[in-house]
Amino acid sequence: LLTILFTVSIISALLADEGMWIPLFLDKYNIADMQENGFKLTAEDIYSINNTSIKDAIVIFGRGCTAELISDEGLIITNHHCGYGAIQSLSSLDNDYLTDGFWAMTKDEELPNPGLEVSFLVKMEDVTKLVLADVNEDITEEERQLAIDDAVKKIEEQEGDANDYDIVVKPFFNGNQYFLIVYEVFKDIRLVGAPPSSIGKFGGDTDNWMWPRHTGDFSLFRIYADKENQPSEYNEENIPYKPKYHLPISLKGVKKNDFTMVYGYPGRTSEYLTSYAVKLISEVENPHQIKLRDIRLEIMGNNMNSDSLVRLQYAAKHARIANYWKKWIGENRGLKKLNAIEKKQETEKDFTEWANSSEELKNKYGKILPELNKLYTDIEPYRLAVDYLYEAVYAIEIIDYASRFNALEKYYQENIADEDLNKKINGLKNSAKSFFKDFNLPTDKKCFVALLTMYNENIGQEFIPMEYKTLLNKKFKDDLNVLADFVYKKSIFANEENLNAFLHSYSHSSLKKLYKDPAYKIFKNFADMSNELIYPVYIELRDKIATLNRVYMQGLQEIYHERVFYPDANFTLRLAYGKVDDYYPRDAVHYDFYTTLSGIIEKDNPDIYDYKVHDKLKTLYKNKDFGVYSKDSVMNICFTASNHTTGGNSGSPVLNAEGHLIGVNFDRNWEGTMSDIMYDPDQCRNIVLDIRYALFIIDKFAGASHLIDEMTIVD
Ligand code: ARG
Ligand code: GLU
Repeated sequence: LLTILFTVSIISALLADEGMWIPLFLDKYNIADMQENGFKLTAEDIYSINNTSIKDAIVIFGRGCTAELISDEGLIITNHHCGYGAIQSLSSLDNDYLTDGFWAMTKDEELPNPGLEVSFLVKMEDVTKLVLADVNEDITEEERQLAIDDAVKKIEEQEGDANDYDIVVKPFFNGNQYFLIVYEVFKDIRLVGAPPSSIGKFGGDTDNWMWPRHTGDFSLFRIYADKENQPSEYNEENIPYKPKYHLPISLKGVKKNDFTMVYGYPGRTSEYLTSYAVKLISEVENPHQIKLRDIRLEIMGNNMNSDSLVRLQYAAKHARIANYWKKWIGENRGLKKLNAIEKKQETEKDFTEWANSSEELKNKYGKILPELNKLYTDIEPYRLAVDYLYEAVYAIEIIDYASRFNALEKYYQENIADEDLNKKINGLKNSAKSFFKDFNLPTDKKCFVALLTMYNENIGQEFIPMEYKTLLNKKFKDDLNVLADFVYKKSIFANEENLNAFLHSYSHSSLKKLYKDPAYKIFKNFADMSNELIYPVYIELRDKIATLNRVYMQGLQEIYHERVFYPDANFTLRLAYGKVDDYYPRDAVHYDFYTTLSGIIEKDNPDIYDYKVHDKLKTLYKNKDFGVYSKDSVMNICFTASNHTTGGNSGSPVLNAEGHLIGVNFDRNWEGTMSDIMYDPDQCRNIVLDIRYALFIIDKFAGASHLIDEMTIVD
């Protein structure tokens, strides 16, 4: 019995679902483990540069999401929240695709999206040796950085600079390893289909980061190419791109413990931080940032509730602010529950013991932790000040807006040609339109008072700009409300007409007016102060920390040499594998691993915007009209799995053991959001849209069965 128990515990140690693995190294590090857990294909099937592989069906979508090919005519699927910006830009009051959804019934009806790009990974190569060729123990950190920059530039140049390719060298493992990555970029991407927000964003911010979840978070686009199947800017003549590979879609559904993998572009994690860093994040940064966003969300929320125009104007802003606000709250709870700081301290104890075990190790590693400890203490006030610049000062819309006019000073100082200046002014005129379209003065004014109050109360006096402080004190008796009255009455940035007048008659002498503008002045005061007093110190400390973290990482890999490390996410292609799984979030509470359409009907509430269920969906439910997309008359909506994912993984394909598409990744559970810093196999789950619900919506709800016909459906 004992031996059996022992084997079980070894296997479950291997079953750890943590990790975002480099596809290039699956064969070396992961494939045996994956196959043991049910995976039926080979590493070469997932990633190959010589043969077609699953990687050829995965793209970076826009600036921060993943998408995947699902037909041989360039059709891609991603999240609704990833296509949101594009769908919104295409919408007007008459054609409100966000509210009503959009379905192109023929290719002619598909809508172009200027500026939207998708990128295919062409290849990835370990170039560490080349990058570090001129680096040795005897040079300084600055010399090291110069040598690396030089080498990187050379490598990137050697790869050529063909127009349609994006070539980058990126650091991995805190700068211990470097990869060359080449992407092919397609620029004619058209909207094919999107469900109404009542499906694609069902549950809204209320359900965001939460399980159980019922969001139909998907949208469809198509990649277009020129006649030679090459990337091209938008052109009417372009034709649907023929991909090397597209994902077969499985209707089989999922069972608990089924093998799953997520193949996509996770953005950023910090799994190898020290306890000092986790302390700074969880005890200082997160609480302050949460508080600052609390204030903003409350002010916006109140004004949105009492005014339907404000509701519209601030919908996207509110959602964006709420997203990370809620994530930080979950992250902090999770770190606390996990005892993350203590766990880090235990590792640090091991590290210290090891580092002191020989003279040689002592020389290299002995001082790292005490130095990091000190640096994190030193950086705290600067880091907090930087957070407050972003979350308080520039979170005030007119201050942030005024800061965009700073470029005009440069145009003057550098004597830039009239032609370019005119272009700039035109750009500012256009952005004025979109700024004021979504600007509500009373809302921003309340934020101004509340956020600057927080700044004054929580940030060291030395970081309160002198001129601003004096102005507030002398002219406004330290009353931010009176200062706000003045700023929002006098500033051109608070008044569309005045701003347009300024832009229409702009000449260099107008700069005088800019300098006198109270909102611009406040921006300048903070910008000048931070450029002088915050950033120089902050950047120096940050770079020192980065250097030590690099060596610390190296040390960790030496101590735990039997363990395979995965590098922190850095928005490069990764594979996370695990299994379909339920979880127990709290004492006596069990969450099953899937949700169904009945749950949507349960949540239905016509009085709450986030929970209004579409009539047609209700009819389909009543008639159990689910087509081939359900089993036993149950329509599955979402499921959870233990794949290690983060922001950027939105839209990533979730694949089964055969490499068939079973879902689209779109979120994590609230209890698991600390996985960016520390993963907990008991609590961390990714949230996946069941692909069968997407197909059901396309087919039965939208009547777009021609799209289903393009796909490769397997059972
Ligand atoms: N939480 C998910 C992700 O980080 C979905 C975000 C969609 N936005 C929202 N505010 N609901 O990005
Ligand atoms: N919603 C996230 C995204 O947009 C994915 C969720 C997560 O952070 O894991 O990428």
